[in-house]
Amino acid sequence: MSSKDNLIIFDTTLRDGEQSPGASMTRDEKVRIAKLLEKMRVDVIEAGFAIASPGDFDAVKAVAESVKDSIICSLARAVPADIERAAEALKPANAGRIHTFIATSPIHMQYKLQMQPDQVLERAVAMVKLARNLRDDVEFSLEDGSRSEFDFQCRVIEAVINAGATTINIPDTVGYGAPDEYGLMFRRVIENVPNADKAVFSTHCHNDLGLAVANSLSAVMNGARQVECTINGLGERAGNASLEEIVMAVKTRADVFPVTTNIDPVHIVPTSRLVSSITGFPVQPNKAIVGANAFAHESGIHQDGVLKHRETYEIMSAESVGWKTNKLVLGKHSGRAAVKARFEELGITFESQEDLNKAFISFKDLADKKHEIFDEDLQALVSGVTAPDIAIKYEFFNLEATSKSGVKPKASMTLKVDGIEHQTEAEGDGLVDASFKAIEKIANSDTELQLYLVSAVTQGTDSLGEVTVRLEKDGVIVNGSGTDTDVIVASVKAYLDALNLMAAGTLKAHPQKEGV
Ligand code: KIV
Ligand code: ZN
Repeated sequence: MSSKDNLIIFDTTLRDGEQSPGASMTRDEKVRIAKLLEKMRVDVIEAGFAIASPGDFDAVKAVAESVKDSIICSLARAVPADIERAAEALKPANAGRIHTFIATSPIHMQYKLQMQPDQVLERAVAMVKLARNLRDDVEFSLEDGSRSEFDFQCRVIEAVINAGATTINIPDTVGYGAPDEYGLMFRRVIENVPNADKAVFSTHCHNDLGLAVANSLSAVMNGARQVECTINGLGERAGNASLEEIVMAVKTRADVFPVTTNIDPVHIVPTSRLVSSITGFPVQPNKAIVGANAFAHESGIHQDGVLKHRETYEIMSAESVGWKTNKLVLGKHSGRAAVKARFEELGITFESQEDLNKAFISFKDLADKKHEIFDEDLQALVSGVTAPDIAIKYEFFNLEATSKSGVKPKASMTLKVDGIEHQTEAEGDGLVDASFKAIEKIANSDTELQLYLVSAVTQGTDSLGEVTVRLEKDGVIVNGSGTDTDVIVASVKAYLDALNLMAAGTLKAHPQKEGV
């Protein structure tokens, strides 16, 4: 038994992470990530902002239906419609939390809300009471809390705890805080609010100055017992505090931090890869814990040291956070049961027999082209085969792409649009360009390509290529993904995936841009 306090890990990859421009996720993608977070034993999963769009509502509900071991949370502005919508989406949850917020800093109250402080306080109390009538677990956030006046912070916090808030979050919304100052703010608030012992205090730090993790840990040193964070530090602007860094700091420096977490870190790297491949946000190679170089020892002196005694240069082991270095799992002759079992070990389950069949067919196709199948291949495969939660308008049928030195590359493309076959040809600056031009001749989508990203899933020239295509139209941004051993085909699949998402898409409300 540990004598240390438990630090609640609140993951907001699916909500604040999704607020990164271009990081939108579909319902099924959110469910896949949420299942891995549950496996990792994340305490609270913020699954979305239920009122933002019908898609967001469905995603929160679907996560609440499929994840049973973590608390599922939905964000809600401090308005009745938001809170009621959040409660509705959370109905299937074993344990659900409504997270409501309103800004408390002078600058936000005056210019954004155009409300007097007393009106803000009154609204906060009324909305926490409403939320408590619908759920027992209610979190209240003082948006732009780190730039709010101390006396007002204390008044609001005391009042919302009396109204029933069980968690109080003081975010550093604009990433302005400095570690000592932010930590001290927690200490002062906790010491001065008379009913502070009736709630858990939480941090939520943005990384505009690169201080999100340092600020969060400083708050923990000063009494915070919940940290809000995201996988890979994904999030609005420069991102949020990174879950993997917080968790591994607390674990590795158990001599310094007065807390422990429930997290099983072995799921960190697979979850990081999944989030990166779904959102199309690559992880920088030197990113702590999950970057490709985080455990690579380049210099001879370091390599020699590690071989003699690992701790000379390594403060934690690569295996402990889920680096398994290309584990060979299956081959051409593996049967359906073995493939299914391996998918399950990776946290990938299929909702229907049909989905499993599709995944198995993709596996067999891949095994024909590539002799060795690694975990990473299986993860990449399912990006294209899990039950699509959107209607498929554009379907890939056939592609002939030709390139020859000195001749302009050409793509001859056959697509099905709403089930009807269309064929066309286009030239381009390369085969990918020619293929995208051919698609556009048929689809005429009027979208703008914002990102085209190719990565190899494993090492070797027979690796699956994983492509992300980000398209924008009228403020709606979608990420399509596609995988294939042929990079041109993967690119076409990704482009069509993005077009399908765009065709199905609805505009989303942004929690912090809409006034209350
Ligand atoms: O950054 C922030 O203040 C937020 C709140 C809505 C919690 O994301
Ligand atoms: Zn935030």
